[in-house]
Amino acid sequence: MKRPLRGPFAALLFVVLCGAASFPSALRRAVAPAPVRAPPLDPARLNATLLRIAAFDPSEPSLRRDVDDLLEGRLPVSSLRGARAWRRDRLHPLHLRHHQVPIHRRSHADHDHDSLLHPLPREELLLDPSLRRSLRSWHRLRRHDPAVLRNLPSILSLRDRIPSCAVVGNSGILLRDSHGALIDSHAAVFRLNNARVSGYSAHVGAKTNLSFINSNILHLCARRPGCFCHPYGNGVPILLYICQAVHFLDVASCNASSASIHAAPISVTDPRLDVLCARIVKYYSLRRFVAETGRAPEEWNGVHDAALFHYSSGMQAIMVAVGVCDRVSVFGFGKAADAKHHYHSNQKNELDLHDYEAEYAFYRDLAERPQVVPFLKDTKFKVPPVVFFH
Ligand SMILES: *[C@@H]1O[C@H](CO)[C@@H](O)[C@H](O)[C@H]1NC(C)=O
Ligand SMILES: *[C@@H]1O[C@H](CO)[C@@H](O)[C@H](O)[C@H]1NC(C)=O
Ligand SMILES: *[C@@H]1O[C@H](CO)[C@@H](O)[C@H](O)[C@H]1NC(C)=O
Repeated sequence: MKRPLRGPFAALLFVVLCGAASFPSALRRAVAPAPVRAPPLDPARLNATLLRIAAFDPSEPSLRRDVDDLLEGRLPVSSLRGARAWRRDRLHPLHLRHHQVPIHRRSHADHDHDSLLHPLPREELLLDPSLRRSLRSWHRLRRHDPAVLRNLPSILSLRDRIPSCAVVGNSGILLRDSHGALIDSHAAVFRLNNARVSGYSAHVGAKTNLSFINSNILHLCARRPGCFCHPYGNGVPILLYICQAVHFLDVASCNASSASIHAAPISVTDPRLDVLCARIVKYYSLRRFVAETGRAPEEWNGVHDAALFHYSSGMQAIMVAVGVCDRVSVFGFGKAADAKHHYHSNQKNELDLHDYEAEYAFYRDLAERPQVVPFLKDTKFKVPPVVFFH
C-alpha cells in the first residue's frame, strides 16, 4: 500500500500535488534511489515544515478530556469500548465505590466468556489520591523538555549510569546468530513486550534487567484472570508508556497485586520522554512520506491516524538506554526476507500504529551522526556509542 513511488511518476506526482513545496536534495539522495526532477528546491523550508508538524500533537485535546473524565470519576468516553472488559473484581478495592450504584448487568445479547466482566457505569469510578496525583503530574509533565534525557538516570532512580546495555528486540533475525552470551555480557539487558526467553537463550541471552511494554499489553494482562504482571519474574522492573490515560487503572491494579508480592515497580515512562520520542519518530515518518510519495507533508495525516500513531516500545528502550548507559548494543531490530517476524512467535506482520521504517532511519542517524537528529539536538546531550547488530 505504501510502496515507494519512483522515477518519472514520482516527479509528476510531486509537481501536481506539492506545487511550490520544496524537496531537500540531500534527503532525496539518501532516501529515494531514483533521481527525481523537482521544481526549485528549498530544503530548509521543507525541513522547517516537517519540524513544525512533528512538534504538533493533535491528540492533546482528547487526552485532556480523558484525564479530566478520570479525575472527575468517569470512564473516558474514548475508552468505553475497551472498558467493557474492565474487571470489576480487580478494580473495586482500589477505585470503585461500587456499593453506591447498582451493579450493571450485561444483556443476554451480549455474549462474552467471563461473567465478571461488566461495562462500568460511568459514575462509579473513584481514583484513590495517589493515583490522582500520578495521573495529574503525568499530564502536567507532557511537554517538550529535551533535558529529560540527561536527567533519566535520576528519574529512574539509578545511582550511576550503567557501563553497558544490550537492548534486545524481537526480530526473527536473532535466530540467525548465537549472540546469547554476548548479550548477557552487558551490565544490563533490556527486553521488549514480554518476549519469551526460555528456550531461546543461545540466541537472545537469559538475563533481563528492565522490561519495556506499552500499556495496551499491560491492559490485556490486567483484564485476564490470574495474569501475572511480571512475566520476567518479580525482580525485574517494568517501564511502560501509556497509550491511553485510562490505562493508569491497569497500572494501578497491577501495582496493587504486585505490592502484595513485593515485586519490582511498574513505572510509567516520563511523559517528557514520550514527547521527545513522539516528535522524533513523527519527523522521520513525515520525511519518509514526503520522499517516497512526493506528496505534501500535511497529507501524512491521511495515511497515519495521527491519534493512534505511536513510537514502538523498541524505540523507547533504545532512548532510555541512550539516556542511562555509557555504551549501547542493539540486537534483534530489523527485518529480513529469510527471517521470521518475531523470533518467538508466528505472527506475520506488524500493527499499523508504528512506522518501523521511520524508526530505522532514526536509528541509522543515532548510530552514525546523532548530531543531526532533530529535537535530540536541542538537548545538548552527548549520545553514547550505539552499535546495531544485524
Ligand atoms: C542485571 O541483572 C543481573 C542478574 O540477572 C545482575 O547480576 C546485574 O547486576 C543486573 N545489572 C544491573 C545494572 O543492575
Ligand atoms: C505504581 O507503583 C510505583 C512504585 O511503587 C509508583 O511509583 C507508581 O506511582 C505507581 N503507579 C500508579 C499508577 O499507582
Ligand atoms: C532538519 O532540521 C534538523 C533540526 O534543526 C537538522 O538537524 C537536520 O539536519 C535538518 N535536515 C535536513 C535534511 O535539512
